[in-house]
Amino acid sequence: MCGIVGIVGKPEAEKVILTGLERLEYRGYDSAGLFVADGTSDHLVKAQGRIKNLEDKVTPKVTGTIGIGHTRWATHGRPSEANAHPHTSESGRLVLVHNGVIENFDTLQHTYLEGDHLKGQTDTEIAVHLIESLMNRQKLDTLTAFKKALKLIQGSYAFALVDKKDPETIYVAKNKSPLLIGLGDGFNVICSDALAMLDQTHHFVEIEDGELVTVTADQIHIEDQKGNLVYRESYEAQLDLTDIEKGTYPYYMLKEIDEQPTVMRRLIQEYRNPDGSIAIDEKLLEKITQSDRIYIIACGTSNHAGWAAKHLFEKLTKIPVEIHLSSEFGYNMPLLSQHPFFIYLSQSGETADSRQVLVRTNQLGYPALTITNVAGSTLSREADYTLLLHAGPEIAVASTKAYTSQIAVMAILAEAVGLAKQQLAAADFAIFQELSIVATAMESLISEKAALSQLTEDYLGTTRNAFYIGRGNDYYVSMEAALKLKEISYIQAEGFAAGELKHGTIALIEEGTPVIGIITDATTGSHTRGNLQEVTSRGAKTLVIASEDLAKVGDQILLPVVHPLLTSLLAVVPTQLLAYFATLQRGYDVDKPRNLAKSVTVE
Ligand code: G6P
Repeated sequence: MCGIVGIVGKPEAEKVILTGLERLEYRGYDSAGLFVADGTSDHLVKAQGRIKNLEDKVTPKVTGTIGIGHTRWATHGRPSEANAHPHTSESGRLVLVHNGVIENFDTLQHTYLEGDHLKGQTDTEIAVHLIESLMNRQKLDTLTAFKKALKLIQGSYAFALVDKKDPETIYVAKNKSPLLIGLGDGFNVICSDALAMLDQTHHFVEIEDGELVTVTADQIHIEDQKGNLVYRESYEAQLDLTDIEKGTYPYYMLKEIDEQPTVMRRLIQEYRNPDGSIAIDEKLLEKITQSDRIYIIACGTSNHAGWAAKHLFEKLTKIPVEIHLSSEFGYNMPLLSQHPFFIYLSQSGETADSRQVLVRTNQLGYPALTITNVAGSTLSREADYTLLLHAGPEIAVASTKAYTSQIAVMAILAEAVGLAKQQLAAADFAIFQELSIVATAMESLISEKAALSQLTEDYLGTTRNAFYIGRGNDYYVSMEAALKLKEISYIQAEGFAAGELKHGTIALIEEGTPVIGIITDATTGSHTRGNLQEVTSRGAKTLVIASEDLAKVGDQILLPVVHPLLTSLLAVVPTQLLAYFATLQRGYDVDKPRNLAKSVTVE
C-alpha cells in the first residue's frame, strides 16, 4: 500500500528518495512521484506504473537537498499521473504526500475550497489546498495552518509537507498510518517503513497518533496535540540490508519459501530457554489461562494461519478458539464470552482492518496479544503483549514464511499455556523437538522443485479455475493454498471442505477441472479420497498431496510424517510452490501481483 519517504539536509536527495521508493515497491502501488528542492530550484516528477517509469523521468537537473517521495495505491481516484502524489496547493507553494484516507474530504472541499482548481480526484489534494486556504484566509504561517487543517481533517493519515518558501523543513503528522523519523549525521529522513531508509540510518524515532513533527537537517521537534514538546528516545532497527535483498533468487517469494526451515529453527532458538522450557512472559500465560475463550482476529493469509492453529490450540490448552475476519468482526461483534482473550495475527502489524478491532477491544478493556513479524509495529505497540514471528522481512506480496511461522508461534504458545494450565505434561508434546522435525521435512519438500514445476504444468498449465479440498486442518490449508494460487497466478481457485463440495459446488466440475486433495489426517483421509472419486467420475483431473503414512499408489505429492497437530506446516509448502510455478509459467510477476498491497493500511 502507499509508501512515504523523505530527506532533508543531504545533496542528491532524489537518489535517496528513488532508492527508498524502490524498497517500498513490495508493499504494492500503481503510481509514484517525488518532489525535490534546494533553495534555488524545485522539481515535481510523477509517473503512472512502476518506479522505473519515474526514474526515467528524473533528469540530471532534478536534484535537491530536501525531498519527499511517494508510492500510491489508489483509493480515491484511479491510478494516473494526475492522482499520483506529491500534490500541490492552489498556488503551487505547498507540496504534500499522504498515506491513509480522509473521510470528510467532500465536506472540506465544499466548505473551504470554493473556486479552487483541483487537478485530480484524490482526498490528498484537498488536504494540501485546505492548508493553503487556511494560510490565506487567516493569515497564518505554514505550521499553524497545518495544525488547524489537522483539526478539521477526519480519517487516517501520515502526512509529509514541504513549503517551497522554506525548503529546509519537512512537516510531518500522523494518525493511524505508520510513519517514522530516521536520524542521520547532518541530515534526517522520514519513512513509512524503516526498510526504505536502512542505507541511510538504523536509528529511528517512532511518532504517535496526533503528534506533529518539524524535521530539519539537524533537529526533530515533536509536539503532541496540545502543543507540548515531546522527547522520545530513538531505537535501533534490528534489520540488515541483506535481509531485504533477493541474492541469487529470481523472486522474493521463492527465497521466502526456501527460508521456512531456517525460520522454524530460529523460532526454536528464540523461544527455548537454556533449560529447555518455553520463553514466554508469565503474565501473558496467566492472562490466557484465566480466559474462557480465545478470539483470533486477522485478515488474509494471517486469518488462514489462525484457522490452521485453532485445532492444535484447543487440543493443547482446552480453551475454545474462534477465528474472525477483522473487517467483519469490528462492526458486527458477536456476543462475547465472559473472559475473552484476543489474539491479533498480523505479519505487518499495520493492517487497518485488524487495528480498528484492537482499538475497540482496548476500549472495552479486554486483554490482547499481537503476533507479528514487525517489532514496534502499530498492532504490537497497542496490544498488551507481543510475540514475534522472527521470520525476517517478508517482501513478496504473497505471504509464505509468515504463515508457517504464525502457526509455529501459536503452537509454542499453546504448549506453554497447556503446561501452565496443567492440561499437558512436558512429555506429552515436545514442541521444539517437533518443530525441528518439521524443519527437516520442509527441506526435503523444497528440494522437490523440479517435480513440482512439472506437476504444475501438467495440472494447472492452461486451466482457468482449480479447487483445493480437504477436511479439518486439511480444509484450512486448502483455503490458504487456493488464496496463494489465485492471488498471484490469477487462476480462479477455491479452497473447499471436501464433504461440502457435493452440496452445490460440484456443479462447477467439468472435463479437466483440476481438483487437488490434501490428506494428512487418518480419520478423514478415506472420506476425502471418496470425494476425490466423486469429482474424478465427473471429469476432474485430481492431484493428491498426502502424508507418507496415509499415501496410496498414484498419489503425486508425498509429505514426510510429522506430529499430527503440525501437518499444516508441511502441507502448505507444495501448494506455495504450485502457486509460484503456475505464476512463472503464465509469465506474471510473482512478487508484485496486480491490485494487491503487502501492508493494507486502509479499511
Ligand atoms: C494483505 C496482504 C496479505 C495479508 C493480509 C493481512 O492483503 O496482501 O498477504 O495476508 O494483508 O496482512 P497482515 O500484515 O495483517 O498479516
